[in-house]
Amino acid sequence: MGEEYSRLSLGLDIGSSFVKLVALSRRDGRWALKDVALASLPEGAIVDGDVMDSGAVAESIEALFRRLELQENRVISGISGRAVIVKPIRIPTDDPDELAQNVSWEAEQYLPSLNDVNLDYHVIERGAGQTRVLLVAAKRERLENHRMILRLAGLEPLIIDVDSFALGNCYELNRPAEAPRTAVLLNIGAALTNINVLCEGSPHFTRDVSIAGNNFTEAAARELSLSVADAERAKRGELPEVDPLALNDVLDSVAEDLVGEISRTLGHFFDTNPELELSRVFLSGGSSGLPQITMALEKTLAVPVEHLDPLAELDLDDSGMNRDDLATLAPQLAVGVGLAIRGADDELP
Ligand SMILES: Nc1ncnc2c1ncn2[C@@H]1O[C@H](COP(=O)(O)OP(=O)(O)OP(=O)(O)O)[C@@H](O)[C@H]1O
Ligand SMILES: [Mg+2]
Repeated sequence: MGEEYSRLSLGLDIGSSFVKLVALSRRDGRWALKDVALASLPEGAIVDGDVMDSGAVAESIEALFRRLELQENRVISGISGRAVIVKPIRIPTDDPDELAQNVSWEAEQYLPSLNDVNLDYHVIERGAGQTRVLLVAAKRERLENHRMILRLAGLEPLIIDVDSFALGNCYELNRPAEAPRTAVLLNIGAALTNINVLCEGSPHFTRDVSIAGNNFTEAAARELSLSVADAERAKRGELPEVDPLALNDVLDSVAEDLVGEISRTLGHFFDTNPELELSRVFLSGGSSGLPQITMALEKTLAVPVEHLDPLAELDLDDSGMNRDDLATLAPQLAVGVGLAIRGADDELP
């Protein structure tokens, strides 16, 4: 008989269209999926990543937890978009203690005001009298609002992470055996596309682009004179009466806008980091199944594009869900899985 399961670790990904909860537990050195739940948010509750109606978001989360009857209310959650600024900077020391002391002083030169942000950093590379770091500045007001929503929903925030870093952790857990040295991760949601460039396991660059699923729906509604609800169904291939060629043209043109933005961003990054090579792209997020996006990426970036499976390394036997349902949800779970695996795994119930 193996070890007992650890206590539940809950990753709560509050997106602008869906809240995703991933409940994991650890046993015998492996993460097991214990529960997964999604709740769609009322329209207008979160617009372009900004919370407009905290009460409505909290209510959706509370309802989701009531349904699941979990014995755990501590969650790991994440912020993204305008709530965080991530910048690669160089600090003129390779001494870790000195770095920790100097980082906020150095950060002052790159950020409008340090009073309004919580600072953190990831070391990219250390040596020859300097350290390259990714500076992470989370806006305090947004962090507080996020915590307030969780508390309103009856939850206790354990960690507030950044979505694109959670995406990186999810990739690290699930990456294929013959993974490239440098991996470009794209998580294409409703309002945002999170970009994370990982090299040998550590994030070297992240940025959130504000073109994603909503832009496809809005363009289909506008160009094909559909209601937003019908445009959403058309986009998912669930509205047979719409002209497939006209729909494809609309989706193609938004995919090109999105990929243009991604390609400019990556082009700039790889130009300034010539030691790294763009060799493979991994997709996740609710919008990542749109074939127009994969085609535009392959054409423009000329590298293989594949889908990240956030559940690949999880034991799924205890989740109570069948594999087909899990496979349908999987693209939306990347951030939630990445959040949940930051949970303490050494505490048994
Ligand atoms: N089968 C599908 N085909 C196309 N698009 C889909 C499909 N299923 C979901 N989507 C789209 O995926 C998006 C939701 O994905 P996701 O849950 O990753 O976003 P989110 O986290 O709520 O948003 P964000 O992180 O951008 O704030 C919506 O735009 C939805 O229309
Ligand atoms: Mg999201």
